[in-house]
Parts: sequence; structure tokens; C-alpha cells
Amino acid sequence: MRLIVRDDEEQASSFVAEYVVDRIRTFAPTSEHPFVLGLPTGSSPLNVYAHLVRAYRQKRVSFAHVITFNMDEYVGLARDHPESYHTFMWSNFFSHVDIRPENVHLLNGNAPDLEAECAHYEQTIRGCGGIDLFLAGIGEDGHIAFNEPGSSLVSRTRVKTLAYDTIRVNSRFFGGDIEAVPRCALTVGVQTVLDAREVVAIVLGPRKALALQKCIEEGVNHMWTLSSLQLHPHPMVVCDEDATQELRVKTVKYFKSIEQVACSQGFEQTLPTSLRQRPGICGNPILPKASTTLGTSTTGMTTPLVIPSPIKPSPSFILVNGAPDTPDASPTTATKIGPSAVTSMGETITTSSRMTADSGSDLDLIPDRMGNRISVPVGADIASDGKLGVVPVYRRRLTPTPEQQQLQHQRNLGRVGA
Ligand code: GLP
Repeated sequence: MRLIVRDDEEQASSFVAEYVVDRIRTFAPTSEHPFVLGLPTGSSPLNVYAHLVRAYRQKRVSFAHVITFNMDEYVGLARDHPESYHTFMWSNFFSHVDIRPENVHLLNGNAPDLEAECAHYEQTIRGCGGIDLFLAGIGEDGHIAFNEPGSSLVSRTRVKTLAYDTIRVNSRFFGGDIEAVPRCALTVGVQTVLDAREVVAIVLGPRKALALQKCIEEGVNHMWTLSSLQLHPHPMVVCDEDATQELRVKTVKYFKSIEQVACSQGFEQTLPTSLRQRPGICGNPILPKASTTLGTSTTGMTTPLVIPSPIKPSPSFILVNGAPDTPDASPTTATKIGPSAVTSMGETITTSSRMTADSGSDLDLIPDRMGNRISVPVGADIASDGKLGVVPVYRRRLTPTPEQQQLQHQRNLGRVGA
């Protein structure tokens, strides 16, 4: 998670807008490979849209090859109602840039079959190859799109009943008349957002401070659906100082220091090149969508860890046992078993102090000293004395030597700085 704190709303908004401009320019979209942008409504992104329009007028960015998908729309509100999200998007953004109307996608809250409308929306997103960058705002209750508290974190586009709090908060757009606010909306799901290759949320003002605190400092929780971003490989939250009021000073300082250190190293951009450039540029292959599945990060910024699986007879390796689920289990509890043992699958296991890599990598791999913290049992039943028994056995985890990790880090810095 990147948390970017700016002094005020204007600076936070221009940061987000310039980020979008940079992403589109670097991606260099074409009609064959358009840039797919997810968009929010609400007051928070207003300045972002104004800034994007200015950047377009200055000819710094074009939306000719950008496809958009909006997050949500009220159910039952006429499309040309002043408060429909259709009206909002066309009057604040689309009408002022060179986007092609056929590339704009907004949910139809007046569709005869709302469920079919939602299913079709998901299908259209998939048909476009998934969303490259999803911009988001948040509600005061921490909702992302209209994923109200209690929404499933694997939800997809669907009809959603609005929380009374949201109806009350949004009544300010309907002349303060709570009765005028629609009770339902169509919204992309939490999982729809998480499927995007990158998510950037803008959070402004003290009204959002509690939601921001819940989402940044606490765990993933369906009652604060923005917190689901903790499961995304490339999330960024951009906020103003006012929105940080409920965060600990230590947290704010921490995230600011991360940004400073990154700048001092000559880069601000942590998104890997393979995601920043469109397929086809410099041999960049067509990428699969981002996934929240463990171990599928496509950042290319991390030092590789190798988890060979399943355990098979190998000339030499170490079995790690003990109490891997105990957070403070000491790495020294790693136990060499041997000289040989027989698994319940009839395999003979012998040990030595050094692992051989069966990953095909030319790296010199050594056992990762955190390996005993991984609770991935592979089902072998071996007692520590080498006899059959029920002793937890965990996957071997290999890691490059510290020297190689340092080298890899230097290479990464070179790549990002380029
Ligand atoms: C609505 C939208 C959300 C948006 C929220 C925040 O509820 N469905 O997508 O994030 O408003 O609105 P504001 O930025 O006006 O506080």
C-alpha cells in the first residue's frame, strides 16, 4: 500500500491527475491496445477531472484511446437527471476531452433487467482486457463505489441497497431532501475493483478521517470496504492532511518517509514497467489481470523466493519443523532430520546443510531463515527421530543469498530509474 499525503485538497487532486496523465502517456494507448480507466463520482474527484481537462487542453494527454468504466449509478434516476452519475460524468469530464462516446461505459440504472445489466457490465470489462487503473473515492463509512458496509469482499457488479448513512450524506446533492435520494444503486463489486491492475483512491477532508484510519491502520474488514485494497498488489491512497486526523502521527510519518526515501533513490513510481507499458512496447507481453492470490505479484521488484512443491526425494534438503504458526518461532528451531527418513508416501528424504535449487534458476539459493513461519503442510508423517509419526512438515522455502539480494535490488533501482 502506498499512502501519499499532500497538504491540501488541491495538491492531492493534482497529484492524482498528474499520475493518471503519466500512466496514459507511458502506456501510449492505441486503438488495438486502449488504456482502460475505471472512474468514480462524488465531490472528491471533481478537482482531478478539472485538472485532467486542463492537461488535455494543454495537449499533454489524449483520451482518444482510453476506455472508461464508471463505478456506479443510481437505480431509477433518469439518465439526464442533474444528479445522475451520467450527467455528472458528462458535464464534469467527458464533454471536455476527446474521449469517444462509444468508449464510455456507465451502468444503466433504468435497465429493464438490472441483473442482466450488471452481468453484461462485468462481461464488457473482461472483453476489454480488464481495467488498467481504477480511480476511486470513498464514502464516510469507508465504502468503495457503492459497496456499503457488510458487502462481500469478493462481490461483483450488482444491485445494492444504499445504507441510510449514505442516503443521508448524499442528500446534500438533492437539495437536502432525503426522500429524493434513490434507495438503490448499481455498483461494481469489491472484487471488480480488486481485479484492476492498479487502484488509486483519493480521500479528502476530515469527514473521511475515520474511514481512512480504519482502512490503513486496521485489518481487512467488510465493514470498511476500502480496506480490501490491502489485498491488492498495487494500491495507492492519496489524501490531504485533513483526512489524516484519525491516523497515528507515527503512521503518517512512516508513509511520508517511504515516499522521501523513494525520491532520494531517484524514483517515485513503484509500478513495474510491465504494467506501465501497453502490450507490444519493447516486447512487453500481454499480461494477465492482477490477482490477489498469494505469490502472484507481478511487480518484478521483489527478490525471488522459491517454494518448491510438493516435497519429493532430492539429493539433499532440510526439513523444517516445530511450531511454524507461532509468530515468534525462532528460525533456530529448524531441525535437520536424518540422515534419512521415509514419508508416508514412501519417499526417502536425506539432509544436508545446503539446498540445491530445482527451480531452474542460476541463483545460489539457501534456506530462508523465515521458512519455519510458513504453515504449508505437505502431508508427510515423520517423527523427529526419523520414525513414522505425525510431525508437521513444511515446504522448503529457498531464498537468494544476501549478496545476491543486494545485487538484485541495485538492478531494480536501475530499472525503475530509467
Ligand atoms: C458516492 C459514490 C462513491 C463516492 C462517494 C464519496 O457514494 N458512490 O463512489 O466515493 O460518493 O463522495 P464524496 O467524494 O462526495 O464524499
